[in-house]
Amino acid sequence: KQYEHILTSRPEPAVTLITLNRPKALNALCSPLFLELNDALKQADEDSSVGAIVLTGSDKAFAAGADIKEMKDKEFSDVYKNNFLENWATMTTIRKPIIAAVSGYALGGGCELALMCDIILASPTAKFGQPEINLGVIPGGGGSQRLTHAIGKSRAMEIILTGRIFTAEEAEKWGMVSRIVGEGEGVVVKDAVAMAKEIASKGQIAVQACKEVVNAAYELSLNEGLRFERRIFHGMFATKDQKEGMAAFAEKRKPNFTHS
Ligand code: HXC
Repeated sequence: KQYEHILTSRPEPAVTLITLNRPKALNALCSPLFLELNDALKQADEDSSVGAIVLTGSDKAFAAGADIKEMKDKEFSDVYKNNFLENWATMTTIRKPIIAAVSGYALGGGCELALMCDIILASPTAKFGQPEINLGVIPGGGGSQRLTHAIGKSRAMEIILTGRIFTAEEAEKWGMVSRIVGEGEGVVVKDAVAMAKEIASKGQIAVQACKEVVNAAYELSLNEGLRFERRIFHGMFATKDQKEGMAAFAEKRKPNFTHS
């Protein structure tokens, strides 16, 4: 499908790669871009041949934030009545794993976009930040919540109150990204696609269930979360993939998952 602000491709048969493509604006996240992104994510989620999704930008910018030029003249009545940014949350309803491959700037809404993904891989050039304070506003795409969960209160306060950019090394040390990949253009996408390919080779019911239970850790108390996990675990015994996975282990062979 042809989009104006994003590109989609299938670098592996079971992997959808979505590339933000507004190079002149450093992938600033204008509303039409977000509508396209949601559409592409939904398509990938509904396509049974896709097992995992990679989201990336360019070498220079994952995304430099929400589109400031689009926002600057808006009034409270506009943003309130239209529930501005509401469609950002659509992404969190996607059931398949989304890996963010971040190179260059991931600022404001760009950082928040990465934080809505399930796994973040960073190139050594990645620069994260929530500079909204310098624009007279606050993070509005989940940064105050997800960044705080990811890196802890004191660091989140520092980053959000000063607006300073933080590096890939800091993001890795603080546990916000799972790792920094090797240097070079395209390396982060290559590694993310390889990871997505591996995830797509597993039983997809279990993959989806894993995402669901890990995400529940952010919503539920420990006891509720453990109970939820155990119930979903019990549910796995109704799948063919459980029979196949455990039989294959006992027979010392590779499992052939049918995602059923
Ligand atoms: C609109 C943007 C933009 C943005 C960059 N551009 N970021 N346009 N919205 N967020 C545009 C510039 O205006 C410029 O257009 C072109 O992209 C290249 O940017 P430069 O500034 O010339 O590049 P450079 O000097 O390399 O600086 C890179 C930068 C800087 C440090 C990333 O662009 C920057 O500070 N951008 C804004 C970052 C930011 O504040 N993000 C938070 C946005 S608020 P022209 O036409 O001049 O060539 C936000 C709110 C979130 O995200 C709340 C809800 C989601």
